[in-house]
Amino acid sequence: MKTAIKHIHSRRIWDSRGRPTVEVDVHLQDGSMGRGVAPAGASRGSREALELRDGGLHLDGFDVSHAIANVNGEIAKALAGMNALDQSSADQRLIELDGTPLKSRLGANATIATSLAIAQAAAASQSLALWQYLSQGEAVCLPLPQIQIFGGGAHAGRRVDVQDFLVMPIGAQSFDEAMVMVAHVYQTAGKLMQARGKRFGVADEGGWWPDFASNEEALQTLTLAIEKAGYRHDQVAIALDIAASEFGQQGSYTLGLDNQVFSSEEWLSVLLRWIDAYPIISVEDPFAEDDTAGMQAFTRAVGNRIQVIGDDYLVTRVDLIEAAHTDQACNAVLLKPNQVGTLTETYAAMLAARRLGMGMIVSARSGETEDTAIVHLATGWNTGQLKVGSFARSERMAKWNECLRIQEMWGKHTVFAGKHGLKLAL
Ligand code: PGA
Ligand code: ZN
Repeated sequence: MKTAIKHIHSRRIWDSRGRPTVEVDVHLQDGSMGRGVAPAGASRGSREALELRDGGLHLDGFDVSHAIANVNGEIAKALAGMNALDQSSADQRLIELDGTPLKSRLGANATIATSLAIAQAAAASQSLALWQYLSQGEAVCLPLPQIQIFGGGAHAGRRVDVQDFLVMPIGAQSFDEAMVMVAHVYQTAGKLMQARGKRFGVADEGGWWPDFASNEEALQTLTLAIEKAGYRHDQVAIALDIAASEFGQQGSYTLGLDNQVFSSEEWLSVLLRWIDAYPIISVEDPFAEDDTAGMQAFTRAVGNRIQVIGDDYLVTRVDLIEAAHTDQACNAVLLKPNQVGTLTETYAAMLAARRLGMGMIVSARSGETEDTAIVHLATGWNTGQLKVGSFARSERMAKWNECLRIQEMWGKHTVFAGKHGLKLAL
């Protein structure tokens, strides 16, 4: 069989935080090769699949020698001879070989890098780009981007509690135009910081990281940057990733910057006030992963006009997505392949979200590499939205630039999801 897996090789490479990560090459009988890389989160949900790190003192415990040894040993042996075109059987073999609920034996970093490498090898064997291979001939759209302008939370020294202040260019007619709009806002925001004499750096995902006096100042400044860049709110709107599990638990939310502690109900009224005051159309993890009542109250209050995304709350798991839909705890699903550990499980999560009429956003992690696989997942699966971090740093720009290449390759047939990528009546 030409598409049988002949050889698997894993190596240590380094991610955008200068930490080790797992890269896997899968070689097929016909000479095709596919490469997969594991990204890494910093603000992780407690129910995510486990990223296997060596621990100890060496490289602050972040080394991945065991995960790499698992790929080069057990995984390579178990997958040898399997058909790379049969992704679900290969992933099932990985799941069974690991044998734990959270991939804690082999490591989800080992399994996701292998799983993605198999898909890439399969696509190469068919002389197709990954997005074409995944689309199986169905019509697809380039995704509407969510792009961070200001970073906070675990990605920026917790100077601001809210993790991501992002923009969505909902007025763009093409992906190319979307990039131009975001570039204007990003550069305008940087100039505003400079003019105000704010100290700022660049956060893990490439957003500006200024010393705001309050969480709300970041929102005010982003709104101003959008307006100063020349856009109306129906052209460029705001998305927030609150990542509330990072500062809230058991119904109590502590905003370090604002020096305030809120109950779940009080936090809800703060968020609702922000939504009324600023052009926000999407909010991710507004409440902590243990606060279903908070998620429900928020979704009830805003659900038909605002996208409410579950990230830590859902961790790309079908059972949690179904429960959240039943509970009406959110209306959109963030899809992060390494939260579950195989492409097939990520695909199942996407299908569940689609079946339930929920929004779908493929997302990068805060620790990334130059790998662009997620762009192909968002496009090939036609999810409508993609979230990658900011508009700076090459591990982020590699993804946006890949979208532009796909747009060009498609030529006049290019369809851009635009605002329809959101499952909202805008
Ligand atoms: P993470 O952040 O990769 O650190 O989890 C991304 C996000 O929360 O969406
Ligand atoms: Zn998130």
